[in-house]
Amino acid sequence: MPPDAPPSTITPPTDTEVEPILTVHPVPGVAKPDPILVIEGLQRSFGGLVAVDVDHLEIERGIVTSLIGPNGAGKTTLFNLLTGFDRADRGRWSFDGRPVTSPAPDQLARQGMIRTFQLTKSLAKLPVIQNVLLGAPNQVGERLWAAPFRSAWQAQEQANIHKAEQLLDRFNLAHMRDELAGTLSGGQRKLLEVARALMTDPKLIMLDEPMAGVNPALAQSLMGHVTALAVDGVSVVFIEHDMDVVTGISDWVVVLAQGKVIAEGGPWKVIHDDVVIDAYLGRRDRATQNGGEAPPVTGPDAVDEGSGA
Ligand SMILES: Nc1ncnc2c1ncn2[C@@H]1O[C@H](COP(=O)(O)OP(=O)(O)OP(=O)(O)O)[C@@H](O)[C@H]1O
Ligand SMILES: [Mg+2]
Repeated sequence: MPPDAPPSTITPPTDTEVEPILTVHPVPGVAKPDPILVIEGLQRSFGGLVAVDVDHLEIERGIVTSLIGPNGAGKTTLFNLLTGFDRADRGRWSFDGRPVTSPAPDQLARQGMIRTFQLTKSLAKLPVIQNVLLGAPNQVGERLWAAPFRSAWQAQEQANIHKAEQLLDRFNLAHMRDELAGTLSGGQRKLLEVARALMTDPKLIMLDEPMAGVNPALAQSLMGHVTALAVDGVSVVFIEHDMDVVTGISDWVVVLAQGKVIAEGGPWKVIHDDVVIDAYLGRRDRATQNGGEAPPVTGPDAVDEGSGA
């Protein structure tokens, strides 16, 4: 959102919107009925800066959880730790009931945990279809020992291509199949990255600001895809700054500030929570910031605390 963009309007919640999908007590660290991810005492510092300091956090299976918080709150760092792209100073977590002992991104992806990046990582000089195929697990064809089993890996390759094409279709990118990824718009590259992540058939997909820089029409379609994933049984955690998106598609919201979970709960309750508003405003006077009106939480430009990643 540009700095001079008007605040998004948040209409008052109706009774149905207020009702969160989880009936657990909405306090930081609350236990969930069926968590796919359980985090315990996770910490990461950079020099003197504590980027992540999560005492306890559970992510419920099969729903859309959004992770929000001001710029620099530690959201991306938390994703990096959980998915093996960075190492924690201390702490542990379990995924799908099993402790994660030596986190490596490809191993975690095989177990069903996949993530996308805040800055897209498509290979500009490869065709779109090849970019999606990079997400395919067990690429037997790449292994020398597989040479004698040529027909088997060719069949697998065909199956992967078919799956990649279906995903391109699902994300309205089929017409770009053979174009170089570099020719896609920023928004289309975000979709491409989600498509690639889905090649692994993940149990949990973690999306780092998937809507950022995506035009409104494409964002709307991406929101539809995210909700559809949860309907299909995939657990989704996504980092998002736009509160209209958060309230539109989240079943549950976790708020991070200065590395800590400061609130969690149903979307409407959380974005109207004084502690959350204070965190976004850097603890300045809410009434002054908002003309004495209701919550101003509108996006990353509501605060300017510098950007992490
Ligand atoms: N590799 C690094 N080296 C030093 N500091 C880092 C590093 N990665 C992150 N940080 C710092 O850690 C803090 C958390 O950063 P992080 O990128 O996780 O925040 P974020 O919540 O994702 O922010 P944003 O909403 O702007 O993406 C920030 O102060 C950032 O500058
Ligand atoms: Mg980030």
